[in-house]
Amino acid sequence: MLRHSLLKTSRTLLSHHQSRTAAMACRAMSAKATAAQVHNHALSHADVDSDPKTLDIIDKHAKYTLTTYGRPPVVFTHGKGSYLYDVGHREYLDFTAGIAVNALGHSDPEVARALFDQAKQVVHLSNLYYNVPAGELAEQLIEATRASGSFEATKIFFSNSGTEANEGALKFARKVAKLTAKPGQEDNKFGVVSFTNGFHGRSMGALSATPNPKYQKPFLPLVPGFAHAPFNDVNAVDSYVTVETCAVIVEPIQGEGGINVASEAFLKKLRSRCDEVGALLIFDEIQCGIGRTGKLWAHQNYSHECVPDMLTMAKPLANGFPIGAIMITDKVAEKIAIGDHGTTFGGNPLGCAVASSVFRRINTPEFLENVNKNGEHFKSQLKALESPLIKEVRSKGMILGLQFKVDPAPLVALARERGLLIITAANNTVRFVPALNISKAEIDQGMGILKQAIAAFEDRVMDVEA
Ligand SMILES: Cc1ncc(COP(=O)(O)O)c(C=O)c1O
Repeated sequence: MLRHSLLKTSRTLLSHHQSRTAAMACRAMSAKATAAQVHNHALSHADVDSDPKTLDIIDKHAKYTLTTYGRPPVVFTHGKGSYLYDVGHREYLDFTAGIAVNALGHSDPEVARALFDQAKQVVHLSNLYYNVPAGELAEQLIEATRASGSFEATKIFFSNSGTEANEGALKFARKVAKLTAKPGQEDNKFGVVSFTNGFHGRSMGALSATPNPKYQKPFLPLVPGFAHAPFNDVNAVDSYVTVETCAVIVEPIQGEGGINVASEAFLKKLRSRCDEVGALLIFDEIQCGIGRTGKLWAHQNYSHECVPDMLTMAKPLANGFPIGAIMITDKVAEKIAIGDHGTTFGGNPLGCAVASSVFRRINTPEFLENVNKNGEHFKSQLKALESPLIKEVRSKGMILGLQFKVDPAPLVALARERGLLIITAANNTVRFVPALNISKAEIDQGMGILKQAIAAFEDRVMDVEA
């Protein structure tokens, strides 16, 4: 049963990572699972040591829920700060934070209190009525953004997720283009330009802007009018962004794409080209925004010329309670009318109250300074790692990528079985997006485990290649 599950995990890794090296590494991984059963005393968190209850829970889960993720045989029941605990009471250090979501760590007492206090008042009203927390959160976000940079945001639309925020931003861009296009061009100005290795979500519009064949191919045809330009290629911008373009959507720092940091010249060029052709520039800061880079917004790491017309956010905004938002300038807001867009849950008092409390804590000079300081420490620790398999470290604040020369997918299990949770990203990269309040000691603890996992990974790669 467990062996079946391990083999299934290996097969999933194979289908997601087609390189020959990964295939060899995964074969070695499943073969060695048997050895691990014999020598599992060497691993503090061996998959084969999973609590028997774990396997029952997984069986039930698999029987009734649709499998769209390859998951390891671990079930987490609770967390505290940067640690998660499984059914068998094993402690894991979490360098993933729910994929850049739990910025203040797990089961934070203030987040719990904000949830409880608001739930006692009112959870949901719909957008038929005003509510206090949504207005307060909108004011906080707009005023903090205007005070800390040159993005002249004036209005917010709340959604429930990052994908929905992007979907709304794309719709807004199409509407604005229809109303502002030169006479005779109203029906032609609907093009959207996104970039290689970008990730914007999986609904039809957001997926159309996510040029990954693995995600797109099963669902073709997608929304018409989408083009994908090379990321960070200043010279290619003019030919992709034309008078028929209504929007350009870009992550200032690509997360899923492998922690690729946009250059100043690239963002500047996107801004000036959008102005030339009358297109709107959307910054997708769903993964890199809200303090992750040590600034409130990732684009604030660039000059004042690198500002968007719309900014989308989600993940950490309420520390795990689902919420997203589109922040826009007047240029966009004045073209959107009642009935153009809507949502049942978006802007609900519960999510907004939690987000208000989270945002207030993240957006302080002390908190952001600490993200910078610990981000630098994290980076220096990654740079100090010595392995012939490592290619490069890329980072900004607390979003970090460790690129390998081979597919590092097997490293995820090797780290987990030693008590450290990590995730991969595209281009042979391991991604680190821990809680923003992770301590230096926790970073160091994780680095110790990572070193051991990389050593085991080296052994496997060597074994396979021998
Ligand atoms: C940059 C970026 N945009 C959009 C999304 C989609 O957000 P969600 O999963 O909340 O719909 C993600 C999620 O990983 C993301 O990283």
